[in-house]
Amino acid sequence: MGLLTSSFSFQLPALGSVSPVYGVGLLILSTLLLAKVLSSLFFRSSRNKLPPKVWTFPLIGGVRKFMKGPIKMIREEYPRLGSVFTMKVLNRNITFLLGPEESVHFFKAPESEMSQQEVYQYNVPTFGPGVVFDVDYSVRMEQFRFFSESLRVSSLKGYVEHMVLEAKSFFSKWGDEGVVDLKSELEHLIILTASRCLLGREVRDQLFKNVSDLFHDLDNGMQPISVLFPYLPIPAHKRRDEARKQLADIFAKIIKNRRDSGKRETDMLQAFIDSKYRASGRYLEDHEITGLLIAALFAGQHTSSITSVWTGAYLMKNKQFLEPVLNEQREVMSRHGDKLDYDILGEMDVLYRAIKEALRLHPPLILLLRYSHKDFMVKTREGNEYRVPKGHVVATSPAFANRLPHIYRDPDTYDPDRFTPGREEDKAAGAFSYVSFGGGRHGCLGEPFAYMQIKTIWSHLFQNYELELLSPFPEIDWDAMVVGVKGKVMVRYKKRSLKTEQ
Ligand code: HEM
Repeated sequence: MGLLTSSFSFQLPALGSVSPVYGVGLLILSTLLLAKVLSSLFFRSSRNKLPPKVWTFPLIGGVRKFMKGPIKMIREEYPRLGSVFTMKVLNRNITFLLGPEESVHFFKAPESEMSQQEVYQYNVPTFGPGVVFDVDYSVRMEQFRFFSESLRVSSLKGYVEHMVLEAKSFFSKWGDEGVVDLKSELEHLIILTASRCLLGREVRDQLFKNVSDLFHDLDNGMQPISVLFPYLPIPAHKRRDEARKQLADIFAKIIKNRRDSGKRETDMLQAFIDSKYRASGRYLEDHEITGLLIAALFAGQHTSSITSVWTGAYLMKNKQFLEPVLNEQREVMSRHGDKLDYDILGEMDVLYRAIKEALRLHPPLILLLRYSHKDFMVKTREGNEYRVPKGHVVATSPAFANRLPHIYRDPDTYDPDRFTPGREEDKAAGAFSYVSFGGGRHGCLGEPFAYMQIKTIWSHLFQNYELELLSPFPEIDWDAMVVGVKGKVMVRYKKRSLKTEQ
């Protein structure tokens, strides 16, 4: 402000010696020039301002900090450096964008500017060749279309029928009362359900043990070291590769039988068998179908079972939130009896919010990554502007962003009512205020499937059992690739009929 005032007073006396029109013209011109010089100076300096850097020991310093846990590191650095900062890990610069305003470009930029392929390459040996991160963006987009089509409402309705049957049959083995490790029970149920809905009847009915053992080997082949060196010849990777081959053989036989017999099923496998690439008009090859099914199982299995466990643990611990969930179940049962289907589950808003809140506090995917192909500017909510250079890995963190105190009141407290009409804290700062399912261009395609599955499980349990959490409230297992619940979650159950207690 001081600079502007003195410039004007310097120029005004000169105007007296020229004609008024010419003088005014000169004044306007010089003002414009001045404004241009100042704005270019200011603009250039903000365009060149890189995000602050996390201090680390040279060479492997960043690795140590990162390996101690990215969320711990973010919690330490955020108060010092703010919502945008860069950390060097080996030869990579990782820039963190932490918050709904800061992560807009992360979620919305086109693939030519922010891509997934480079940072999610480590999935290729697990998913196999010719799918997802092993193919060009145009092919990947078509494959994601196959996912969306296989998960649309008309298909979901059929999947929910499988989910309900699986839950009923699974819990019928529990008996009238007992004690179980809820974590391992729900993991088991979800793999059964996912097998039925995604991999198909053949796997679920005849090959379940064989296929789930192979998936187990695939799963164990995804170690933290695999992210940096996916092809390192370690035993876990060798078992992964062998399992991948055997799965391809099993699915090739199943697909052939289905094609030969003309028999159709309601599952994702059938949806993929029926899918065609628009660009070439060709059907998917068997190895592509296998790869996409593996990708779906990886995307949806641990994420859903972890969320189911957190939901139950929070509701068993917080009776004030359990009661409204039970009341909703009673009300739904008064209208539909013990029937559960897609539409009935859709009526359960209280249960929906209870799950959503567990997932806010514990998103299983704690870091989302992209690779920046083009410099971009990011502005923090405090008004700092930084240029993030091309070549940086860019990260955002649902686990951190979902607990920001300027978005969520008492962010560490379980409070499903924060999503009720009128409060809607998940929309407080726009579309990326709640990012457990990601958002923007690559938002989760399985979100409705996941909610249906978790709602089915908890509706069945609440309608039929009284439950008590015996273990202390679970801790977070930060070491897992998909971050979940540490240790066992022991629960006592006793059969009851919720309806009769009205
Ligand atoms: C509670 C359960 C789930 C959670 C928390 C979850 C979370 C996420 C997140 C955070 C992303 C975005 C990744 C990124 O931006 O890099 C994502 C993407 C995706 N999810 Fe899920 N997911 C869940 C269940 C499922 C299920 C059940 C399926 C399929 C049956 C599924 C299929 C997908 C697919 C195909 C994508 C990729 C979308 C794209 O890149 O365009 N997810 N999920």
